[in-house]
Amino acid sequence: MITIQNIHKTFGNHPILKGIDLTIERGQVVVILGPSGSGKTTLLRCLNALEMPEQGIISFQNREELTVDFSQKLTKNTILALRRRSGMVFQNYNLFPHKTALENVMEGPVFVQGKKESDVRPQAIALLEKVGLGDKINHYPFQLSGGQQQRVGIARALAIQPELMLFDEPTSALDPELVQEVLNTMKSLAKEGWTMVVVTHEIKFALDVADKVVVMDGGEIVEQGSAQDLFNHPKHPRTQKFLQQIRVA
Ligand SMILES: Nc1ncnc2c1ncn2[C@@H]1O[C@H](COP(=O)(O)OP(=O)(O)OP(=O)(O)O)[C@@H](O)[C@H]1O
Ligand SMILES: [Mg+2]
Repeated sequence: MITIQNIHKTFGNHPILKGIDLTIERGQVVVILGPSGSGKTTLLRCLNALEMPEQGIISFQNREELTVDFSQKLTKNTILALRRRSGMVFQNYNLFPHKTALENVMEGPVFVQGKKESDVRPQAIALLEKVGLGDKINHYPFQLSGGQQQRVGIARALAIQPELMLFDEPTSALDPELVQEVLNTMKSLAKEGWTMVVVTHEIKFALDVADKVVVMDGGEIVEQGSAQDLFNHPKHPRTQKFLQQIRVA
């Protein structure tokens, strides 16, 4: 289980996350929905210690327990340990443009985890095969489609063998015909039992794959439940309003 308690994050004097509580069971897929500016990306970045909350506790309990209390002063080692628990997939892929697909995937294990390149290479190739890119390992990002680049991004996040995979609108920058290949890759990860938090507006994906859907608005979780319940019987007026907007769009 991964538990998130009372996360607060402020930018300047704007409170952006106002006490987020969330529990993620091992192997669960949690989909986060919510209007632009509601704090979804900020929450993912806090989970991965790319942003430092002022307050709150994150506890990873699926492997060796790691509990981080952000109200304490954290050491560099604690921050690194937290970062290694999750792999992040970004909206705009964030690949290194001057590195091949294979080099992008090997980067984390080699440069962050200090593993030997020769040990990491077979695993990196296997990950690229898993995301359907076994024939593209020596291609540079500019030689790949958006969907292919995003699948390299997924393989790269998997390469550090994280306890949690974080996806921030992984398909929103893609042309419509490329969305499905990325969603299918994510579906197969869910089937393999990866624990995933996915920010997305893909309702069908949420209905097919999510164990839990969470709606954020104004830096708070306003509602959570099963995808079926939430889409068919949204309780909170802000959830109803948001669902209307994305259905019309
Ligand atoms: N580094 C930053 N400095 C200052 N303000 C920030 C920073 N990052 C985010 N914010 C602000 O925090 C709020 C939440 O932003 P966030 O990116 O988390 O929203 P979001 O829910 O991911 O939105 P979207 O759906 O548009 O991606 C916004 O008002 C944004 O302007
Ligand atoms: Mg965002």
